Amino acid sequence: MRVAGVILSGGPASVYSKGAPQADPGLFEGEIPLLGICYGYQLLVKAYGGEVERADSREYGRSSVRILDRSSIFEGVKKEQLVCWMSHTDSPTALPPSLKVIATSGNSPYAAVGSSDGQHFGVQFHPEVSHTESGQVIMANFVLGVCRATRNWSLEGFRRKTVKALAKLQGRVLCAVSGGVDSSVTAALLHQAVGRRLKCVFIDTGLLRAGEAENVRSYLKTGLGIDVTFIDASKKFLASLRGVTDSERKRKVVGKMFAEVFEEFATKNGPFAYLAQGTLYPDVIESGRSRGPAAVIKTHHNVGGLPRKLSMQVVEPVRDLYKDEVRELGKLLGLPQKVLSRHPFPGPGLAVRVIGEATSDKLRIARDASRIVEEIIEQEGLYSKVWQAFAYVGDDKVTGVLGDERRLGYQVTVKVVESMDAMTADWTRLSPKVLEGISTRVTNEVDGVVGVAYSVSAKPPATIEPQ
Ligand code: XMP
Repeated sequence: MRVAGVILSGGPASVYSKGAPQADPGLFEGEIPLLGICYGYQLLVKAYGGEVERADSREYGRSSVRILDRSSIFEGVKKEQLVCWMSHTDSPTALPPSLKVIATSGNSPYAAVGSSDGQHFGVQFHPEVSHTESGQVIMANFVLGVCRATRNWSLEGFRRKTVKALAKLQGRVLCAVSGGVDSSVTAALLHQAVGRRLKCVFIDTGLLRAGEAENVRSYLKTGLGIDVTFIDASKKFLASLRGVTDSERKRKVVGKMFAEVFEEFATKNGPFAYLAQGTLYPDVIESGRSRGPAAVIKTHHNVGGLPRKLSMQVVEPVRDLYKDEVRELGKLLGLPQKVLSRHPFPGPGLAVRVIGEATSDKLRIARDASRIVEEIIEQEGLYSKVWQAFAYVGDDKVTGVLGDERRLGYQVTVKVVESMDAMTADWTRLSPKVLEGISTRVTNEVDGVVGVAYSVSAKPPATIEPQ
């Protein structure tokens, strides 16, 4: 295959568990450069004759890693001590002489190793995630330095190739637009490729952020001249969510409703040969649909909810891209900055920002409180610096006092996080003044809320959305 190098990625299995994915042993004996990350690293250690054991304590999230050898994969790394993201339970506990320790951490004495011939490396932490300091330098050192690969991929090249490939689609294409970046970029790509054969539909699910339909009307229809039909299906969606409390169930229900509404529209206005979706790479990985064995963390609706038998073929032109890449691509396609910098919003919408049943009262609270959080974050000049800013609500009620009266009310939780690609995230250290402003406005303006909390959990161990 003439591969320049191999990266064995992380994964949820233990190297000792039954059915754990294995690599061809020849890989570890050959001369093809190899980088094992987390699980991949443990495979490498085992193949070299070292030992991997279940550690007493799990190591999740931030960790401080000391670099012992600043050459090869650590070349050009400025600091000796790096903040790295870890997520593992198993750890190597003994190394064979052919592997040398090149980095350590408090919990992992063998945080990184290199083989004596300088071709094979293993790291216990995750250099590929944005919260690992110098992670990109480490990845580039391996890919460009050790493997001697060349950098020949660009987003303009991706745009050209994708438009060319999409132009070959025969028949009409139906595209669901949500007001978010991913579906807007998908629509703009298809508009360039198939022109008037593209039909966009915006479905009001009753689970959307404030002002979403007006938004889509102004930039897609008026701005880019893309044909968009607006459908109000909010009653249908809310009815089908009645009594549903489990978050994965909610995703399935919302996904199924989306598919039903599309099918109905397609039957009436068709024929359409294709259904286009703005699925991103993290959605594919976390839904366990990448080719590897990543565990299902959440079935993101635009991947998981579709019925097996769909009368249209699904096209997902940005499914290999991360959010930051989709934003860059959007710029190349002429989408306005305001749309491109819009925070991500989950397909199942407010249904996953309401814990327990998605009642209209709780949906109103999540929507109004989130709008206030976004407004304040924008006023403070923080909007483009943070990944997402919103509020969620559950069934818990706390005691409040209004005038002289005791009154039970909802407690909302505000979440503001920073991230590059949603695979990892950290909570934003908002000032007490900003937190106070949010709390005052939410309790004053959102009926039924008497308490506000701020979430101080990173991902991992938490996820960004509460459900
Ligand atoms: P989590 O909560 O998994 O979120 O840390 C990662 C990113 O994905 C978004 N998200 C979703 N997007 N359908 C989507 O289209 C979903 O079901 C879904 N769940 C989470 C979330 O807003 C965050 O940006």
